[in-house]
Amino acid sequence: MVDTLRATTTMNTMLANGASAVMPVAGVDEARAIKLSSDEVLLVGERHNVPPPDFDGGNSPLEYPRSRVDGRRVVLTTTNGTQAVARCQDSAEMAAGALINASAVRAWLNQTGLDGVIVMAGSEGRLALEDWLAAGAILSGLTRYNWTDDARAAYLAWQAARPQLEETMLASMHGAALVAQGMAEDVKYCAQVDIVSSVAVRGHDGWFRIS
Ligand code: MLT
Repeated sequence: MVDTLRATTTMNTMLANGASAVMPVAGVDEARAIKLSSDEVLLVGERHNVPPPDFDGGNSPLEYPRSRVDGRRVVLTTTNGTQAVARCQDSAEMAAGALINASAVRAWLNQTGLDGVIVMAGSEGRLALEDWLAAGAILSGLTRYNWTDDARAAYLAWQAARPQLEETMLASMHGAALVAQGMAEDVKYCAQVDIVSSVAVRGHDGWFRIS
């Protein structure tokens, strides 16, 4: 599952920075209920790109250095990304993919030996360019699969955008909305490729942990 701006980038960043587990949930109230069950849990996420007032933090990957998340469990709810996770609950396995860990996702997928479907969260029901780019980056070199035309289109988009990735991400609809809200640094961080070598993978209890 891919939500490059920003949910899956944030999940992978938190885990790479030492969070013990991340639970993506669809609803704000559901997230609050998990927080109530344990003081130790960090309650984070966004609606309209900013955290609800009673939350411990937002959906910016830059908010979660090791000093903030090391050893913590985190519950995350976002407008599109965590809804997409909820809709994929019946999958045999699920990983969170982004540009920052595209190669690691590809390696994980190869290692599972399973058929793969890349689900792009998009934005409120519409295609989100950055998710196509991340899907294309993950597909790059994934040769043991028969690609659909959607996969080919994502790969071609990725190849075309690769030389000016940051500019492309900043100009995308969601990227531009984040820039307008003062979050250009988030978009630039999310536009980096393969800076994280681990993958957030869903465990049997629904919590995502490093693979
Ligand atoms: C989402 O799930 O809609 C997002 O990750 C939005 C964002 O916080 O940029």
